Amino acid sequence: MKVAVIGGTGYVGLVTGIGLASVGHNVICADIDEGKICDLNKGILPIYEKGLIKLLKKARKKNAITFTTSVASAVKSSNIIIVAVGTPENRYGDADMSQIFKALKAIAANINSYKVIAVKSTVPVGTCEMAESVISDNLTDMNKHFDVVSNPEFLREGSAVKDFLYPDRIVVGASSTRALEMMQKLYSYFDCPFVSMDQKSSEMVKYACNSYLAARLSFINEISEISGSVGADIKMVIEGMKYDERIGGHYLNPGPGFGGPCLSKDVKSLISFSRRSNADTSVLSAVLARNKIQIDNIVSNVDECITDRKNAKVAILGLSFKANTDDMRNSPSIWLVKALIDNGYDNIRVYDPIVKNIKHRINDFVIHCNSIEDAARDCDCLIIMTEWTHFKNMELDAVYNVMSSPYIIDTRNILDSNKANETGFVYIGNGIRKKAIEKTILPTSVNA
Ligand code: UDX
Repeated sequence: MKVAVIGGTGYVGLVTGIGLASVGHNVICADIDEGKICDLNKGILPIYEKGLIKLLKKARKKNAITFTTSVASAVKSSNIIIVAVGTPENRYGDADMSQIFKALKAIAANINSYKVIAVKSTVPVGTCEMAESVISDNLTDMNKHFDVVSNPEFLREGSAVKDFLYPDRIVVGASSTRALEMMQKLYSYFDCPFVSMDQKSSEMVKYACNSYLAARLSFINEISEISGSVGADIKMVIEGMKYDERIGGHYLNPGPGFGGPCLSKDVKSLISFSRRSNADTSVLSAVLARNKIQIDNIVSNVDECITDRKNAKVAILGLSFKANTDDMRNSPSIWLVKALIDNGYDNIRVYDPIVKNIKHRINDFVIHCNSIEDAARDCDCLIIMTEWTHFKNMELDAVYNVMSSPYIIDTRNILDSNKANETGFVYIGNGIRKKAIEKTILPTSVNA
């Protein structure tokens, strides 16, 4: 089939376009970003996703994909138009729909035959209906027909190619049989359930999924805090939970709070449009409130270890919102740096395997280091924020020997607490029993 992807150089659009081209469709990815389009037509990717470059090479070799800045040409030469533009959070917590409206008007102006417009962007419930009106109002040829369907994505950063090629299910919300049949043909390559429904339910599926994932994480983060406070061990608690097939052990690791471009944004958007229809969102609000507590708890742990904040040195390992990505969007590490600065810590060292510049005003308040040991040197408290294997396998003796005080806060529980304590650290995990902390009295500097 001939497919256009609008917003085709963004994270979702690019993985979707290249993925569809690699399974036999003819794809045109359209985007306003000329630089990215130019690079992509040379086979250069603007993002890193494992396996994506291999798929792009395969698609280009078959001449199955091209990239253009012309939405018009992409729409005119395609049967299915996938809308994958961004819907970032605006200052009111709503989804910013400006890119959606712009794409819909551009599509309407170039409909030259029957088209299916598939909204893949995460959009408030009711958007497909709105899209039908916007397109009808902006059609240049009133005799041309179209249908709008909802087709949400469930891609995770770091495993987007796998998630696209081997989806748990395809969800499509359609109001016409003709459109539904075209979407079934589009995804006929995929060996998974094809779940069809009405448009509004399909739009709601995406929010329900991401809100469930966020709630699952806030839940386990709260259970982790309780476990640590009553002397239980969260790792054992999860071990005892996971065999219940209703619960499972996946996506149940306590951490510094959920970050990234999607989960918080989608929960806030769901709360916002739910309230407009007078639905209660107390659980969803609690999910967000709990997420904020995670950073407060980390700062409290640092405060427990250190007396002289002004002269103390704190090191943070991991700046992106999770391991195996350089994405800093909504990263808990950024929230932590801000909180530490607000609490009087002004000697903060950071190390991330990929990120070397925070691209945020707080970058001026941190010292970027080139290795774990470099960050740990002379520091009084080391905080692990992302679960890089590199951090999990750190040389504990080497790190311990360069630190001034032995405090290590492992927000991801990636280290062996016994080995860390045997090395001489005072190990503070996330929901792990901790040894009593004797505060370090820093030597008063002779120049005090
Ligand atoms: C998420 C959803 O998983 C995906 O389905 C949706 O399409 C987009 O949003 P993503 O934001 O890429 O994907 O990351 P995800 O792997 O879900 O992690 C989100 C946050 O939760 C990260 O900060 C991560 O560190 C944290 N997390 C995840 C945990 O703290 N514990 C876990 O067990 C899993």
